[in-house]
Amino acid sequence: HTTSLDSLLHAMAQQTASVFRPDLMKGKVAFVTGGGSGICYGITKQLMAHGANAAIFGRRKANVESAAQELSKETGSKCIGISGDVRKIETLEAAVKQTIEEFGRIDFVIAGAAGNFLAPLDGLSSNAFRTVLEIDTLGTFNTFKSTIDELVKTKGSLIAISATLHYTGMPLQAHVSAAKAGVDAFIRAVAVEYGPRGVRANCIAPGPIAGTEGMDRLMPKELVDKHTSMIPLQRYGSIDDIAWTALFLFSPAASYVTGTVSIVDGGDWHMSGAI
Ligand code: HXC
Repeated sequence: HTTSLDSLLHAMAQQTASVFRPDLMKGKVAFVTGGGSGICYGITKQLMAHGANAAIFGRRKANVESAAQELSKETGSKCIGISGDVRKIETLEAAVKQTIEEFGRIDFVIAGAAGNFLAPLDGLSSNAFRTVLEIDTLGTFNTFKSTIDELVKTKGSLIAISATLHYTGMPLQAHVSAAKAGVDAFIRAVAVEYGPRGVRANCIAPGPIAGTEGMDRLMPKELVDKHTSMIPLQRYGSIDDIAWTALFLFSPAASYVTGTVSIVDGGDWHMSGAI
């Protein structure tokens, strides 16, 4: 797409850091909700750096369009940015249509759009609870629903971005815990119903990942050092740590893996409650 020396050098630098073959994703097309920023931007970048083209979907039009341009420039693959809201399935259906017009197929889907804030139960309204369930759980269903026919055609693969906070009782996170538990359960059902049709479905559960909006919102700065020292692997994760797991799950190396949750958290959740 772009042939500038800078972008080629950048793509090569990305691949040097990668253990995966540089053309692993060549000819493939990814459709990514929440791809305009954070973890899902980073996964898209690595899929593209390994040869895939992509469509990213997000609520803020200017943001998702500039992110698509940046991804194309950085990786040399092609990305389109489409705005819409995962709570409104018609916006996803239109985006899928546009993606097929542009690229002709969808092989990989990431349901990554999410909403979160810290709130105690006595500060959580019915609408606040519903809002997070609608973005995370209904949004994952809508993403599945609007892309599954394309995935059946390509024998493709779906990844939902989950979390680890619902494995324990996490204060201030009742809404997100309920929403992500629903995502895990839903993905298991997709794996069982669509396995016979050649589609794999898995979750990735990121732990504390540096440089994400989630961590900025959830972890008070003064607790970061103490928290890090309690993580078994003694550091926050990077966005690439999540991207490598996504590349594995989308690759033929994972062709017998479906209905799973890959926890990528440095062992953090085993220590939850300790801080
Ligand atoms: C209590 C709150 C609140 C807060 C919003 N609400 N923030 N209640 N405490 N801090 C309530 C509102 O008062 C309202 O209820 C209801 O939630 C809906 O709020 P809106 O602002 O109208 O919703 P909307 O504009 O749709 O925005 C959705 C949002 C927002 C989730 C509230 O924060 C958002 O757009 N977030 C997207 C980005 C994001 O959150 N990224 C982080 C993802 S991290 P009432 O009753 O007043 O009408 C992540 C990681 C999870 O998901 C795992 C971590 C380890």
